[in-house]
Amino acid sequence: MFGVLCFVLVLTSTGFCYSKDRSESTSQPQLGCKLEGLQPLLIVTYKNLTTSVREITVPHGEKVTVRCREIGKYKIFGDTVLKCRNAVWSGKPPSCIATTAISNYTEDVPPTILFGLPAGSATFEPSGSLAVFPGSILHLECLFARRLGNPEWTWTSNFRQYLTGWAISQIERDWKYRLSIYYAKTQDSGIYTCTTPRGLTNSIKVHVVDVHCPQLKKPEPPLIAKIEGPRLGEAATFECPHGYRLEGASSITCQYNGKWSANMPRCEAIICPPIQPMNPKLLLLEHNNTYSGRAIFACMWGHKLIGPKKIKCTRNNTWSGPVPKCLEITCPTPETPINGELMDNQQQQWSRRKDQTHRVGSLVRFSCLTGHQLVGPASAICTENGTWSHQPPICDVRCPYPGDPIHGRIAPLKFWYKSGDTIQVSCSPGYVTPLEPVRKPTCQENGQWSDPPPPCRSYRDV
Ligand SMILES: *[C@@H]1O[C@H](CO)[C@@H](O)[C@H](O)[C@H]1NC(C)=O
Ligand SMILES: *[C@@H]1O[C@H](CO)[C@@H](O)[C@H](O)[C@H]1NC(C)=O
Ligand SMILES: *[C@@H]1O[C@H](CO)[C@@H](O)[C@H](O)[C@H]1NC(C)=O
Ligand SMILES: *[C@@H]1O[C@H](CO)[C@@H](O)[C@H](O)[C@H]1NC(C)=O
Ligand SMILES: *[C@@H]1O[C@H](CO)[C@@H](O)[C@H](O)[C@H]1NC(C)=O
Repeated sequence: MFGVLCFVLVLTSTGFCYSKDRSESTSQPQLGCKLEGLQPLLIVTYKNLTTSVREITVPHGEKVTVRCREIGKYKIFGDTVLKCRNAVWSGKPPSCIATTAISNYTEDVPPTILFGLPAGSATFEPSGSLAVFPGSILHLECLFARRLGNPEWTWTSNFRQYLTGWAISQIERDWKYRLSIYYAKTQDSGIYTCTTPRGLTNSIKVHVVDVHCPQLKKPEPPLIAKIEGPRLGEAATFECPHGYRLEGASSITCQYNGKWSANMPRCEAIICPPIQPMNPKLLLLEHNNTYSGRAIFACMWGHKLIGPKKIKCTRNNTWSGPVPKCLEITCPTPETPINGELMDNQQQQWSRRKDQTHRVGSLVRFSCLTGHQLVGPASAICTENGTWSHQPPICDVRCPYPGDPIHGRIAPLKFWYKSGDTIQVSCSPGYVTPLEPVRKPTCQENGQWSDPPPPCRSYRDV
């Protein structure tokens, strides 16, 4: 039942399709129209709302206004107003084609038309007409390479003659062919056309109209406003002082329809969400949640900060970084010395309780197996760096003090003896060691004495 009708514009090679319901029974409801495959260079106004869309559906009886996005730099072909009548669009499909400013001043495209406003104000209408406030001075610039000849300006209004000719300034004189409208009046409204020597044309529709937008109300502090005025094409710009964020448009313009392009914005004080540390180990040293205020963190003793130490409150009402975490600092279980043992503070052997963590401040003790001397510190403390205060000691092989014999003394007297050390026994008066050659006890490699200390015997017994 549905037929599709396509127009293809060779110049731009873009397709443009209409869907149509061919059943023309009057009892059927009237159908809406769909506009699709629109060139991105086109913008559509429907119900006073201008949007850039690739596709739009409109009910029967409604119309849309279409124009090129960059008026003057693109020339529109086709109709600018399309009306929907029972699934069929009236009018020729629109399309935008490039002009000289886009083509680098080639001769085969229509000329670009730009406008300048040394005085007064103007704005575009949805149809692409230039709405100009009465009294404005308007320069229409036809862009064309002067070396290729002179273009020509023509106009539809027969109100007066206009000054035309090449611009005078050095930088403009070779490419701007100008028409000037001084102190525009309603009667200057009309179509202004620039024609190149080859006969290619581009036009701009000028609509001189006295449109005022409602007087803007006095901006409420702290909003700072710079208001040009309430006339067509005039703008108002807004800003907020430090510590506030602008909510809304920073600039609004008085539109062709007497409405401001947006409402007046507001200033919102920038406040970041207050920080409530969930972790009791996290300390808030500073907490200022106004704009560019800081939050500074620390952790309780024995914990380290994971994340930023300092964050700032930014324009978005968001903190510059995440709230950090506190992680308990622990030390790895130290190496057990060879021929030694690792004990905790309660003198229990460590190796049997491997799962236990060593927090900051916890103590380990080292001891050596019998026959060994502990060389180095006998204990170490877990420090805040997560490292031990001391390296584990070494357990050196040593012979212990063998004990004095009865009625005698050992010399030299030490707690520990190195391997190869010998000892002598000196007996109390009246006592002697055996006279037979006796080997001096020597400390051996295995930490044991070669012989026991010789006994001291009484003279009488010898
Ligand atoms: C435009 O044309 C001029 C002269 O023909 C040439 O020198 C220049 O490179 C061109 N620029 C670009 C961007 O094509
Ligand atoms: C669009 O604007 C015109 C001119 O201001 C106005 O007359 C018309 O009612 C408006 N239409 C809609 C649908 O708002
Ligand atoms: C919070 O920070 C802002 C910005 O740095 C500063 O101006 C303000 O005085 C601070 N407020 C307090 C209570 O410290
Ligand atoms: C503000 O927030 C938006 C999203 O909410 C984000 O994309 C942007 O990066 C933020 N800007 C700053 C300055 O934090
Ligand atoms: C441990 O931290 C202290 C400061 O807290 C520092 O002076 C020292 O160099 C650190 N030691 C190691 C081994 O990282």
